Amino acid sequence: MSEVVRFGVSIPQELLNTFNRLIARKGYANRSEALRDMIRSHLVAEEWELGARPVIGTITLVYSHGTRELEQALTKMQHDWCRHILSALHIHLDKHNCLEVLVVKGKSREIRSLADRLIAVRGVKHGEMSMTTLGKDLV
Ligand code: NI
Repeated sequence: MSEVVRFGVSIPQELLNTFNRLIARKGYANRSEALRDMIRSHLVAEEWELGARPVIGTITLVYSHGTRELEQALTKMQHDWCRHILSALHIHLDKHNCLEVLVVKGKSREIRSLADRLIAVRGVKHGEMSMTTLGKDLV
């Protein structure tokens, strides 16, 4: 754990009031913790944008298994990308609909590309990608 330092911040009163309301709504105990989280969040976002560093994440897909050739297309793509897919969870939502959650790891631009391709498959009703850092460079 690195050393904790204190520093002063100059900020317009109105902006501080808005910030205080925001962090109260989010349930933060104090401004320091809120600020630390915001800084980390920006660092993670920048890490993704650079595109070369390894990230880990999930791709969530909802689809109807009855759509012609959909499952073959998804399975083929997952085999093609097997080095990036660590795990797959399949849940049968009802008679027709399926939820699939893939845990993925790789360079952020590759993960973005895989997510875009999966979500674009005909018959996928909804898709979301969530990326996070592997955590090594965050304090
Ligand atoms: Ni299913």
